[in-house]
Amino acid sequence: MAIIIKTDAEIALMREAGRITATVLEILTSSVKPGMRTDELDIIAEKEPKRFGAIPSFKGYRGYPASLCVSVNEEIVHGIPDKRILLEGDIVSIDYGVIYKGFQGDAARTVAVGKVSAQSRKLMEVTEGALKAGIIKAYKGNRLGDVSAAIEEYAESRGYTVVREYTGHGIGRNMHEDPQIPNTTKSLLGMMRGTGPVLKKGMTLAIEPMVNIGGWETKVDSNGWTVRTRDGSLSAHFEDTIAITDGEPEVLTSV
Ligand code: MF3
Ligand code: CO
Repeated sequence: MAIIIKTDAEIALMREAGRITATVLEILTSSVKPGMRTDELDIIAEKEPKRFGAIPSFKGYRGYPASLCVSVNEEIVHGIPDKRILLEGDIVSIDYGVIYKGFQGDAARTVAVGKVSAQSRKLMEVTEGALKAGIIKAYKGNRLGDVSAAIEEYAESRGYTVVREYTGHGIGRNMHEDPQIPNTTKSLLGMMRGTGPVLKKGMTLAIEPMVNIGGWETKVDSNGWTVRTRDGSLSAHFEDTIAITDGEPEVLTSV
């Protein structure tokens, strides 16, 4: 497979898909309250994009059963919404995407349920910072490994680990396009600074670091989806869909 370069007209549609994704994601994150069931979020995720002429993209993707992913505390990604009740002090990662006029948006945020510990707040801040550190390296002429290395350095220099077995991805008419975007320079899926594909105007990328307090290792639940830290330590996840331009990277998943 090859990296698909988008025209300006296609980027304009992805900007709309991104805006709708970010708008609904903001509704979702601001709905999070202690005592809420995670499957209440799925109802919002299903319904809200219709107001904008969009549909949620996750349901049915490789058999995934819901319209968003809700991953609590030591869950990293791909948590399936269910009857679980969110408790004060939990942190919850919400991953969400829509399809609008054939184009995809994909974004994630981790938020606090009520009042959380200082260590949880710090983890969320560092993960969001790692995403931003990656995005600012995503400009024309740079290489993909420069993005990976920046994410890793930001998180590791602050004492955190970066998940190695899951990556970001190109995005467009499909949720997952080439290239894979590692958040680390280590492991088989890693990419060193100064290596990897050269970034070009019109590339659209979903960058999505997953950062842990403990080890980077993961395991998957018997449901085949929920990914959690192997050591049970807390994890956070931030994701944005961006476009490579002639200048600064453009964050498409913003309201
Ligand atoms: N949004 C996730 C990603 O960033 C994918 C969700 S998997 C799904 O790649 F099956 F839930 F759609
Ligand atoms: Co993604």
